[in-house]
Amino acid sequence: MTSADRLHDKLGNLGYSREDCRVLTDQLDRVRYLKDLRGAVILAHNYQRPELFEVADAIGDSLALSRKAVELEGDVIVFAGVHFMAETAKILNPARTVLLPNPAAGCSLADMAEADAVAARVADLRGRYPDLAVVSYVNTTAAVKALSDVCCTSANAVEIVNALPNRQVLFIPDRNLAAHVQAHTDKMVIAWDGHCYVHQQVTPEAVGAMKRQHPDAKLLVHPECRPDVVALADAVLSTEGMVTYARKSEAARFIIVTECGLSDRLYLEMPEKTFYRACQLCRYMKANRVEDLVASLERMQFEITMPEDTRVRAERAVNRMLELGGGAPRPAPRVPVLA
Ligand code: 13P
Ligand code: SF4
Repeated sequence: MTSADRLHDKLGNLGYSREDCRVLTDQLDRVRYLKDLRGAVILAHNYQRPELFEVADAIGDSLALSRKAVELEGDVIVFAGVHFMAETAKILNPARTVLLPNPAAGCSLADMAEADAVAARVADLRGRYPDLAVVSYVNTTAAVKALSDVCCTSANAVEIVNALPNRQVLFIPDRNLAAHVQAHTDKMVIAWDGHCYVHQQVTPEAVGAMKRQHPDAKLLVHPECRPDVVALADAVLSTEGMVTYARKSEAARFIIVTECGLSDRLYLEMPEKTFYRACQLCRYMKANRVEDLVASLERMQFEITMPEDTRVRAERAVNRMLELGGGAPRPAPRVPVLA
């Protein structure tokens, strides 16, 4: 059996033809060669195209990959994810070269909070609430992280907010994750009015219909979804939290409400279980292809840089998260969720 046949055995059910797998096998071999040559590590987010998982040193959610970016050795980090994730890796690894394979891999949620607007809002709110803490989701630019007291991810947002001594929190930029946090804290959470276009499209009607079709399936929902979708969940989890939940659960069927790439990973790692997809594609996450990894390692593109004073201030916020945040899975809220 050839390497291309083995790849087709894995990816065939996800729609990849034998010819796709033959081409991909050659490209993946080239990535492996260049990776060794450059002393590079490849980090891949759960939403990436599944063929990229073949060459990844670590696959995970934003929190896990932030930790891996520090733990794994290598002169070069190639971040198969989106820009803010690669930026976080650079914030934590100033001496290493961090590459984003495709510059189109941005994030419209991160773009919804511009640093100038955040600075103005913080100044205004601190006039009213001198005790205000600024908590930014990692889905923000380095410039916004630099204005923040602490960062968080979908895996640890509730823990981080509850661990702070402050009573009022400005939560940037996702209003849906802010509502999820508000449902699990007695602090006052002031939400920035941003949203993820992928998760915002999921409606309670569509999810309710899937639940009626598969009543025994566990419903796992990402907290970037609307509060009326989150309210239907058996568990509200980060992408890695969903993988762990599905692995440990005795249930055989799951409805997965997040970007579709996660369902690909679940299918590849747990073929004996059934995953129903209530998901959409993220055009930013899907921008990275294997040929972009090849070009990235050949030309050392596209390098992540930022002003050192921004990096140092952002690093404080990211490190505070890494010190405070456990990221344990959390059950769905049992109280009404504020919009
Ligand atoms: P996770 O950290 O849960 O993987 O989420 C990242 C993200 O961008 C979700 O849209
Ligand atoms: Fe950004 Fe949403 Fe894509 Fe995640 S899924 S990278 S939040 S646009």
